Order: sequence, then C-alpha cells, then structure tokens
Amino acid sequence: MKTLILYASKTGVTKDIALMIKDSCQTDITLMDVEDCPANLLSQYELIVLGAPIYMGYVHRSMRKFVFKHLDFLITKRFFIFSVGADATIDLDKYLAMSYPKALLDATISTMYLGGEFRMESLNPIKRFITKQVSDELQKCGPSEVKIHTHNIKVFTQQLADYIIHSQEKGRFFDETSSTNISKRDT
Ligand SMILES: Cc1cc2nc3c(=O)[nH]c(=O)nc-3n(C[C@H](O)[C@H](O)[C@H](O)COP(=O)(O)O)c2cc1C
Repeated sequence: MKTLILYASKTGVTKDIALMIKDSCQTDITLMDVEDCPANLLSQYELIVLGAPIYMGYVHRSMRKFVFKHLDFLITKRFFIFSVGADATIDLDKYLAMSYPKALLDATISTMYLGGEFRMESLNPIKRFITKQVSDELQKCGPSEVKIHTHNIKVFTQQLADYIIHSQEKGRFFDETSSTNISKRDT
C-alpha cells in the first residue's frame, strides 16, 4: 500500500517525529513537507499520514490550507493523523474537528497526540519572546511536562504498520481469488 507522510512544522519538532515514524515503520514510505507537495503526487498514494503541530488552538495553517485546497481529491484516500503540541491535556478530537473537514476525519483510521517541544534556538528574538510567554502559560495550566511522547509514537507507528500490512495481505488475497476465478472460468 503506497503511503505518504505529509508534515507541517515551524521549528522542526513535527518533522523529527514524522522521520521517526517513517524510520521505524520498516516499509516503503515517502516523507514530504506539505509545502513542497505538488497536487499531482497525491494520485500515487492510497494512504496518507498527516502530521502537524497545534498553534493557538488550530492545526498549523499550511496543513489546513493544503487539506481544504485538495479536499475533493483527498477524501478518496485513507488517513492516519497525528498532532504535535505542548498541551498534553487537550481534547484531540475537538481540536481536529476545528481544523480538519468532517469528510476527511470520516476517512481517518487513527488519530493520536504525540507530545511536543518548545525549541527556542531556531527562533528570532520576537518569536522567542512569544514562545516563552506561551510556554509559561502552559506551565501554569497544568503539571504535565512538555515533551515528545515516545510511547504514543510507538503505538501510532505500530497501528500504521499493522494497517499497511493488513491492507497488503487483503489486496493479495483478492488478487489471488480473482485470478483463481478467472482461471476456473477459463478452463
Ligand atoms: C505561539 C505558539 C502557540 C502555541 N499554541 C499551542 C496550542 O494552542 N496548543 C498546544 O498544544 N501547543 C501549542 N504550542 C506549542 C507547539 O505546538 C509546540 O512547540 C510544537 O512542538 C511545535 O512543533 P513544530 O516545531 O513542528 O512547529 C504553541 C507554540 C507557540 C510558539
């Protein structure tokens, strides 16, 4: 089953997580920044993994823009969706429903929150200041530490790998059954 991971990432956290998923899936998966993805590439893939961080309560803008622009075509596919963010207490379904169209969520097999990080190094002083404010606010809201959730990444990757293998086996079964039927009919 041809699989594409599309990610959006401002400071590199989501990109790193997307890479971890690709590397541990041990199957042939293409990885691409959503901003570099040409529309005609989508026709080559049956399964698409969408990974994006949450900023101010919404999935990263470039991911939302891409999804809404290509929605008619995208809903013919199947999806796995992961979210990255600093707030581990979020109601993920609620956040996803605010950012992604229902038709896309209806075609989604699995969604998971995979944690996040604040990476100040790559930011200019203004963005660093804003990020510090957000980080301080989140620390006040709850005791949970801001970190990448490696356990969730493992679970998500396993689900993805299982789905790919299962779909391939199902495809092989139907291929074999139909070729058997053809040869029976032909003889
Ligand atoms: C201005 C700003 C707003 C943010 N808003 C949220 C938010 O609403 N919810 C959340 O869980 N995390 C929020 N975060 C945290 C980011 O989602 C987190 O740092 C993530 O790891 C960034 O991923 P990226 O490097 O792939 O862009 C915010 C971060 C910044 C700097």
